[in-house]
Amino acid sequence: MLDPVFACRSASVSLPLRGGLRPIISDISLELRQGEFLSIVGPSGTGKTTLLRMLGGLLPPSSGRVLAHGKELTGPPEGVVIVFQDYGNALLQWRSVGDNVAFGIERTLPRAQCDQRVREALAMVDLLERADDYPWSLSGGMQQRVQIARALAVQPSILLMDEPFAALDAMTKAGLQDELLLLRDKTKASFVFITHDIEEAVYLGDRVAVLNGSPGRIDEIIDIDLPQPRNQITTREMPEFLAYRHKLHKALGHA
Ligand SMILES: Nc1ncnc2c1ncn2[C@@H]1O[C@H](COP(=O)(O)OP(=O)(O)OP(=O)(O)O)[C@@H](O)[C@H]1O
Ligand SMILES: [Mg+2]
Repeated sequence: MLDPVFACRSASVSLPLRGGLRPIISDISLELRQGEFLSIVGPSGTGKTTLLRMLGGLLPPSSGRVLAHGKELTGPPEGVVIVFQDYGNALLQWRSVGDNVAFGIERTLPRAQCDQRVREALAMVDLLERADDYPWSLSGGMQQRVQIARALAVQPSILLMDEPFAALDAMTKAGLQDELLLLRDKTKASFVFITHDIEEAVYLGDRVAVLNGSPGRIDEIIDIDLPQPRNQITTREMPEFLAYRHKLHKALGHA
């Protein structure tokens, strides 16, 4: 059998705080399979971003192990892109929108091919006509879509996404959710997708992991057995969808 894309074995991260070390996430064990969409939900401050940074090779585990394709992580694994929560700092403000999207591919692809990829990625997030503008002249939601386009342009095999749609309106969000699912079907890319939105986690996910507590631990991983392809209207109306939603609210301690 293929090695999983990621495997965490009792991984923990502690970070410095006021001269000491504070545990942020603890005893994380999970696997991500090829082509799988794993959603992660959890309250603010439980370490979701920290977990994503660990998977992205930006932060080593303080104890335990993190493997990518069966090998211990020593830096960002090949084929991974990260979409950061903080889009304001993720974009290069002195580069045009198009040049931001080209950033990850301009050194490796011939010019014409690079331009083509940039156009396709910008079209996917509905920003083709803003290619020559600068990020600072765009709204927050548009800037986030530029960051998403930059990730898509790389045609990654693993996408680590940190609340990528939090700043978007409901219509744009629904459209991009479906783009991601189509992309997954087309490319068999694997996703770790952090969100505060329980319905989004269920709609997109093959599984949903619940991170809770301080330090954050994975309380539960729920298999989402809903038919594919998902549909914004019919999937969300299914009794099973509502049952998963209910279960996750309970897991998160909501009344
Ligand atoms: N570089 C750092 N140094 C020290 N502590 C940090 C660092 N980064 C994060 N933390 C702490 O780790 C904890 C978890 O932060 P993290 O950003 O991972 O949470 P989160 O679940 O992503 O929250 P949110 O939902 O608000 O984005 C917080 O208490 C935060 O203060
Ligand atoms: Mg976060």
